[in-house]
Amino acid sequence: TTTPPPSNEPTLEYAPGSPERRSIQQKLRELRQQEIEIPAYINGQAVKTGTTTRVAPPHDHQHTLGHVHQSGAQEVEQAIDAAMSAKKEWAAMDFSDRAAIFLRMADLIAGRYRDTLNAATMLGQSKNAYQAEIDAACELIDFLRFNVHYAEQIYRDQPNNAAGMWNQMQYRPLEGFVFAVTPFNFTAIQGNLPTAPAILGNTVLWKPATRSIYSAYFLNEIFEEAGLPPGVINMLPADDGAKVGTPALESEHFAGLHFTGSMQTFDHLWQTIGENLKTYKTYPTIVGETGGKDFIVAHETANPKQIATAIVRGSFEYQGQKCSAASRLYLPESLWPEIEEAMTSQLDEITVGPPEDFTNFVNAVIDERAFDEITGYIEDAREDESAEIIYGGTYDKSEGYFIDPTVIKVTDPKQRTMQEEIFGPVTTVYVYADEDFEDVLELVDETSPYALTGSIFAKDRSVVKKALDRLEQSAGNFYINDKPTGSIVGQQPFGGARKSGTNDKAGSPLNLLRWVSPRSVKETF
Ligand code: ALA
Repeated sequence: TTTPPPSNEPTLEYAPGSPERRSIQQKLRELRQQEIEIPAYINGQAVKTGTTTRVAPPHDHQHTLGHVHQSGAQEVEQAIDAAMSAKKEWAAMDFSDRAAIFLRMADLIAGRYRDTLNAATMLGQSKNAYQAEIDAACELIDFLRFNVHYAEQIYRDQPNNAAGMWNQMQYRPLEGFVFAVTPFNFTAIQGNLPTAPAILGNTVLWKPATRSIYSAYFLNEIFEEAGLPPGVINMLPADDGAKVGTPALESEHFAGLHFTGSMQTFDHLWQTIGENLKTYKTYPTIVGETGGKDFIVAHETANPKQIATAIVRGSFEYQGQKCSAASRLYLPESLWPEIEEAMTSQLDEITVGPPEDFTNFVNAVIDERAFDEITGYIEDAREDESAEIIYGGTYDKSEGYFIDPTVIKVTDPKQRTMQEEIFGPVTTVYVYADEDFEDVLELVDETSPYALTGSIFAKDRSVVKKALDRLEQSAGNFYINDKPTGSIVGQQPFGGARKSGTNDKAGSPLNLLRWVSPRSVKETF
C-alpha cells in the first residue's frame, strides 16, 4: 500500500463577502437556532443516560446550544466491552482499509463538514473564524493525513536478514484499550488523541472535555460517517472527569493513556495508574501534554516591531488559552520603549467580543471558572507592589466571559504571574538591563517548572546559539525570531518535557510509535 503523500491543508481567509464567509455565517445561524442533545456514544450507538447539563457559548452564556448526557461507571463498562470486542477485527484489518477511513474523515472535514466543525468551534469554544480554521479544519485534517502516512512508514520499517532466515517486525496495537482524554482548547487535539492510536489498530475510550463537548459531538458524527466501525472510538462525556477516569483506569484492559490537559490532572492520572499497576495485564503507555509558561526572550540586537507583533499574536490569540501562549517576556531596556509603543498601538486596534461578528480578535474565555481564575491573577497583580498593569486589566462577564488583553510589568522576575500558567489573555513583562542578558537566560530556565515553547529574538547569530545552548531543556518547541505558538503538523512536531509532558511530539512518527507493541519474528529456512 502507498497512501497519498500529505501536504498541509491550505487556510481559508473568510474575507468579507467571500463565499466561505457567507457559507459559515449561514451555518452559524442554523446551529444557533437549534438545541441539540449530546449523548454518549458506545459501540456505534447513542446512549442517553438521562442526566444532562446545559451547553452554552462562552461569549453568550444565556443562550443554549444543547444538553449533554453524563456518563459514569456503567457506560465505561459498556465502552470497555465494546472496545475489547471491536479490537480483534479492527487490528486484523488491512492497514489500507483502516487508512481509507481516516483519509475519508480528513476529506469530509476539508469539504462537506468544514463549516459545521468550524462553526461549532466558534460557538462552543469562542474562537474567531481564523483561529477555528487553523484548528478544527487545517490542523485536524493534517493530523489525520500525516498520521496515516507516519503509520505506513512504521509498518514498512523492517529488520535486516542474514542467509537462511527471514526476520519480520509485526507492529501490533497495544494489548488492551487506549484512554484518550482531550482538552477544550483545540478541536484538532480533540480529534487527534483518539484517532492517532486507532490508526494503528487500537480501540479507544474517549473522554472529551465537556467545555468543548459541542464540537466533540460533531466530530464524533464525522467519525461515524467516515465509516469507523462500532466500538473503535467510544465517546464518554462527563462534567466530572473522575466519573469516567476512575473506572477506566481500574480496568485490567487499560493499556494506554493519550492525554492533553492540566499538569494537575495528568499528575493525578499518572498516580492512579501507578496505584492500579498490579491490575493491568501490561505496563501501560503514558503519553501526555500538559501546560506551559512559555517565554519570549529578546536581545538588544532584535527587531522591536517584530517582537511587538509576536507578543500580541503569541499572547492574545485565542485569548491566551493555548498551552503554547507567550506569557512571560524578557525584554531589554534599550528596546523596551519602542516595543511598548508598537505593542500598544497594535493592541489599541484589537476589539474584544463574540466571534460571530468576524472582527473581534479576542473572544470570550471558556467558562466562568476560567474567568474567575484569570481575573484573580489580574487583581493580585493590582495589589502587588512589584507589579503594574500597563495595559488592559478590565473585564466583564455579564453576557460572556470577556477579559481585555492585559499586560503586567513586574520588577520581580519571579513574581507569581511570571511563574504560573494563567491560561488567559494576560502576559507579563520583565525589562532587564541589556548587559544582564546571560543572567536573564538563567532566569528563563529556572523560573518555571514547564518546558513547552519559547522564543529567542536576536539578530546576532552568536546570541541565538548561546540561547539555544543555555535553554537546551527549557522548551520542546523553540522559535528563533518568531512567536512561540502555531506549530504546523509535519513542520514543527509539538510537545515539551519537564512538567509540560512526555514530549512524544504530536504530529510526528514519534507519537505514533507509542501506540504499537512490536513483535520480532525470526523464521529459519
Ligand atoms: N500546537 C499548538 C501551538 O503550537 C498548541 O500553538
